Amino acid sequence: MSASYVAIIMDGNGRWAQQHGVPVSEGHRAGADTVKARLRDAVELGVRELTIYSFSTENWSRPQDEVDALMALFSARIIDETPELHEEGVRMRFVGRREGVLPELLEKMDWAEAKTAKNTRLKLFVAFNYGGRSEILDAAERYTGGGEEEFRKLLYAPEMHDPDLLIRTSGEQRISNYLLWQVAYSELHFTDVLWPDFSREDFEEALRAYDARVRRFGGR
Ligand code: IPE
Ligand code: IPE
Ligand code: MG
Repeated sequence: MSASYVAIIMDGNGRWAQQHGVPVSEGHRAGADTVKARLRDAVELGVRELTIYSFSTENWSRPQDEVDALMALFSARIIDETPELHEEGVRMRFVGRREGVLPELLEKMDWAEAKTAKNTRLKLFVAFNYGGRSEILDAAERYTGGGEEEFRKLLYAPEMHDPDLLIRTSGEQRISNYLLWQVAYSELHFTDVLWPDFSREDFEEALRAYDARVRRFGGR
């Protein structure tokens, strides 16, 4: 079975910028271009859901000018790219805490979700101001019993499938507070490639690696 539900930790923008002798914001810009390109590929490669990590709850601890640049980039890309994504049949959904995000950015996120709400070709979940522990805590506060299926309904995007495959670029082999509930049985793929350099071939290689895995879910 090929991977229908894919999650990506897009890491390495900072190191890419350093390698190229450019400001870190340029690394994030290059990373955003790669998001756009691999999103197109995902549609063609039969991926049904893609969940990308664009900003974690811990990323607020970065230098203020980097945070500001990330917010500006995020905002600009939503406005610039949503119409084209809409044309391509991509449905957008943001997952994460709304508290702490500027109202004008929240408005853009809401606009993109509403505009693309009826699309069915690919679901793009954008984890923004996202933390896996926060997600579980937020759900736990409202949980009144009923088991895993009831708990799942309280997560940020209950309709999101557990990822078949989680890809992390840049050589780090950790989860960094991403989708803690959902990756319980995901296959993990780590590559040394820095996110801005992550090519279609790299993406296809990750999907091929997944094809070769045997998933057991604890069974024999
Ligand atoms: C990932 O790239 C993008 C975000 C966390 C927003 P990094 O900025 O973490 O890149 P490195 O890890 O410093 O190379
Ligand atoms: C994870 O990358 C967050 C995103 C890709 C948005 P980080 O670069 O923030 O993670 P750590 O600090 O290396 O664990
Ligand atoms: Mg990083």
